[in-house]
Amino acid sequence: MEWKPNRHSHLTIHQQIVNWIKQRIQSGEWPIHTKLPTQRKLAEAMGVNRSTIVNAIEELVADGILSTRVGDGTYVSNNSWNVLIKDIHPDWEKHISSSIYEPNFQTIQLINEYEQRENIIRLGTGELSPDLLPTAVLQRSLQNVPLTARDIGYSEPKGSRQLRHALSRYATKRGIHATPDSIMIVSGALQALQLISLGLLEPGSTVFQEAPSYLNSVRPFQSAGMRIVSLDKENRDNRLPDQIISMKGKKQSLFYTVPTLHNPTGSIMSLDERRELLQICAYQQIPIIEDDVYHGLAFGKTPPSLKSLDSDGQVLYIGSMSKTLSPGLRIGWVIGPEPVIDRLADIKMQTDYGSSAFSQQIARHWLESGLYEEHIDQLREQLKRRADFVEEILQLRYNSIATWNKPAGGFYIWLRLHEPLVNKALFLKLLKQNVLINPGYIYDAKDFYHIRLSYAYASFEQLETGLNILYEAIAEGTS
Ligand SMILES: Cc1ncc(COP(=O)(O)O)c(C=O)c1O
Repeated sequence: MEWKPNRHSHLTIHQQIVNWIKQRIQSGEWPIHTKLPTQRKLAEAMGVNRSTIVNAIEELVADGILSTRVGDGTYVSNNSWNVLIKDIHPDWEKHISSSIYEPNFQTIQLINEYEQRENIIRLGTGELSPDLLPTAVLQRSLQNVPLTARDIGYSEPKGSRQLRHALSRYATKRGIHATPDSIMIVSGALQALQLISLGLLEPGSTVFQEAPSYLNSVRPFQSAGMRIVSLDKENRDNRLPDQIISMKGKKQSLFYTVPTLHNPTGSIMSLDERRELLQICAYQQIPIIEDDVYHGLAFGKTPPSLKSLDSDGQVLYIGSMSKTLSPGLRIGWVIGPEPVIDRLADIKMQTDYGSSAFSQQIARHWLESGLYEEHIDQLREQLKRRADFVEEILQLRYNSIATWNKPAGGFYIWLRLHEPLVNKALFLKLLKQNVLINPGYIYDAKDFYHIRLSYAYASFEQLETGLNILYEAIAEGTS
């Protein structure tokens, strides 16, 4: 035995001896029931006092790794492996439960899991149906996607310059005048929200949101320790400006909104409401995040974007190709004041070195060639047909149990039941019948009246079957 403790180590002699003995057992050199050398021999070989050996052995006996038999020395105990395995393997449960990122709500975890299963009717999915994705055109267009060696290297912090030029031109159609330097590419709108929470806020900052809100279903701000304040737009006694003033904390605040084709309600904020929001936020120095991922899918004319009405650089605008072209491309963008965009781009570089170069080149080609807008024009028509189809079913069957607004575009109908029946039990009951819904409580924890119906994903046949099953399940709950 040649090993000796290292007197210059940062570990104590005692700890080194304990570790050394454990190491002999773990490596199999000392299997279970091995008799250890005597304490005297160990002390001599290691050049330490016998009492140091006694203490180390006592610790290992107390842990159940060694056992002593009176008058017969020390042995590797039966249980040593069980104890050592716990010692070797990290306590993942503890790591998971103590980390800063919050887990998804269980209902959302179930939605994410069941969405991938065969034979499930997805009545709430916020995604284009496979029939609506332009797969064949996209495939053909790949041949014309320009690729140079430079394009497929790491891109600039703000993303491909050509794509930002194309987006700058595209944004003018939305009334937004932004130079390529004030635009950055992100891996989907959700990443924009994450970067904003990391780069522009400190824990304890206030994030205002509308109730109900998409943010409750993804929680990028909640996980970063922000204070989330839900505002009730319908409250006539306590108007929005008063709610903002009374709830604004001492730290920074942000206002997150989806003013055009809101998720989950599908509503569109009027021009007056937009002006009022800009005014009150300007007065309170609260930046606004305008999440505009659905605007291209409006069936009629919509009011101008908040960003186009913004003369003071108070709005951060977020767009995405997920709802129009392909969620798998993971291409979104943020438009805002240059110092803010520089800051977000710096964080993005620290996070992932930029979004996929291939996706950026595809997005650029689709914008520059006109394919993107051509596709959206057709998509809008198809979504309108789907919306009419679902509304017809609702008119036929749901009038006595629910109310809803005529969809103005996008994917969703915010169905309100007359009774508060939309709870976890209803969700699970439908799941047993292979029908997946997005219950209102994932967008507002107190809401048991609403279901977010999506006419974008399921086939016509599935929509009809699913809505019939849903109707029966609700009717059973009311009788
Ligand atoms: C309002 C809103 N913002 C952002 C996103 C996320 O979009 P992306 O796929 O671009 O990250 C969604 C997707 O459901 C959404 O509905």
